Amino acid sequence: MKFHIETWGCQMNDHDGEKLSGLLLAEGFEAVDSSAEADLVLLNTCSIREKAVHKVYSELGRLRQEKLQRPLLVGVTGCLAQQEQVALFKRAPHIDFVLGTMALKQLPRLVAEAQAGKARVMDTGEYPDNHLFPPEVTRRQDTAKALVTITEGCNHACTYCIVPTTRGPERHRPFQDVLAEVRSLVDRGYREVELLGQNVNSYAGGCTFADLLNRVSEVDGLEWIRFTTSHPMNFTRDLAQVLVENPKVAPFLHLPLQSGSDRVLKRMLREYTVGEYLERLGYLGEARARIALSTDFIVGFPGETDEDFEDTLQVLEQVAFDGSFSFVYSPRPGTPSLRLRDDLPMTVKAERLGLLQTRQLALTKAANQRFVGREIPVRVEAHGPNESGWWLAHSGEWKTIHLTVGPGRSLPFGELVQARITLASPHFLGAELV
Ligand code: 5AD
Ligand code: SF4
Repeated sequence: MKFHIETWGCQMNDHDGEKLSGLLLAEGFEAVDSSAEADLVLLNTCSIREKAVHKVYSELGRLRQEKLQRPLLVGVTGCLAQQEQVALFKRAPHIDFVLGTMALKQLPRLVAEAQAGKARVMDTGEYPDNHLFPPEVTRRQDTAKALVTITEGCNHACTYCIVPTTRGPERHRPFQDVLAEVRSLVDRGYREVELLGQNVNSYAGGCTFADLLNRVSEVDGLEWIRFTTSHPMNFTRDLAQVLVENPKVAPFLHLPLQSGSDRVLKRMLREYTVGEYLERLGYLGEARARIALSTDFIVGFPGETDEDFEDTLQVLEQVAFDGSFSFVYSPRPGTPSLRLRDDLPMTVKAERLGLLQTRQLALTKAANQRFVGREIPVRVEAHGPNESGWWLAHSGEWKTIHLTVGPGRSLPFGELVQARITLASPHFLGAELV
């Protein structure tokens, strides 16, 4: 049996894909690189915005054609599976099984039942131990940074967000478990980990998130720790202090702001004002200047006026984020914001998005320009060089580095090397090996 997993969405979903892959490999299945070669295709879906859902349905349509030509099992997992559950079978009757986000370990059973000819197999139950996945089973992709789950689910209730529905309430992995996994990753050669959760900084697996970072940093041989994603209201002074003072915590913070207008933030139920967000950034003190900051914005939220949007541009400018991800508001089924009147024309929303992204591009370029001439450590993230002659690496600030080395030289995958930055673009830094 050959399988292929297609994953959309965030790092949590990428990591779920690695877990699901490991489960199938443990069953003796063989991983292949494309659905065309596979007997089983698993769509590991995202439903954060309508566009992500469209991609899944379009792929399902394609697979329906493939299924007419040859025997093929099609499974759907991830956030769309959890959200739609049995409704998925109605919309796409050629789906063989549906696996929820909180029932990953049930995959082999579902596949066996589907193989045995059972129709419409589904498990979208909430298994409270989903986050206690056996680390030795996980089959990580060939990347220099290992993803590690520390918490699943979200207890906030942002009015636009589907995630509390698709990922359930928070469940925290005990810190001893996290440490054991990180140690075993370092034994296997990883030097960098990214701690994952829908809301990592509300961590409560026997210590605070700030403590967890310190404990993980004590693992010998580990060089950098990253984490994603955070809620501003759980960004404490203790956490800021660890980020500033612990040399193993990479100098990068993704802290989603969503809007620069208090009125909009209130309608989003974000639980903070712009002032409170800025106050929290202030916890970083002078170190703020050397910590790369990124954020998320939603534009065109129901009721967002020109002034609200101006406020967002103003905060963007004031903070001068290194980067931001911005999206037009997408109404999601079952979310409270559906009840708000959403009568802003799409043209206006798209125009606002364009303005914000253009401004961000200039800010990112300026932020990147500061690196030119500096020598910084970067981690080699891919086997290279690529066709253009450079190696892909990332800095501690999560800047993409295009690294050129002298002819005939080879770089060690996954290792830190010293790079001199020679060029800044909004999308990457050009560098030479020192
Ligand atoms: N519409 C548009 N963007 C959304 N996000 C979350 N839900 C929605 C939605 N309904 C964005 C937020 C979040 C990021 C992961 O996706 O900015 O931080
Ligand atoms: Fe998409 Fe959110 Fe689910 Fe990640 S948690 S896959 S971003 S809907």
